[in-house]
Amino acid sequence: MTTRATRRTVLLASGAAALTAGCGSGGDGNRESPDTEGSPGQALLPVADVPVGGGRILGAEEIVVTQPEEGRFKAFSAICTHQRCLVSEVADGTINCPCHGSRFRVADGSVERGPATRPLPEERITVDGNTIRRA
Ligand code: FES
Repeated sequence: MTTRATRRTVLLASGAAALTAGCGSGGDGNRESPDTEGSPGQALLPVADVPVGGGRILGAEEIVVTQPEEGRFKAFSAICTHQRCLVSEVADGTINCPCHGSRFRVADGSVERGPATRPLPEERITVDGNTIRRA
């Protein structure tokens, strides 16, 4: 009788250990370990979708593609460097964060207005005909 009870206890304990290991293996929602990173060559959007002097935010890819001057394209992380909100708008030459009002320049991702103090990290892209792709 005591042997049975002991065996059950062992099985329950190992099940709990497996559950604990599963919970600790990630998926905490932290954007510092993005699982949305695409592979090189991934098509992002048509060139024609990026306005001159402005840009487009790709929320799923967490990337913002800008065209500061005609024919010159740039891309940045769409995650604000202040407290990691997703930027929400590109207007009047800046990429704007809705959370606390930071603004970043479309030309280089630098801070135009805080509270953010660091620029948006640049993302590598290529222009392939009429399509902008990850480099
Ligand atoms: S998270 Fe963007 S301004 Fe605070």
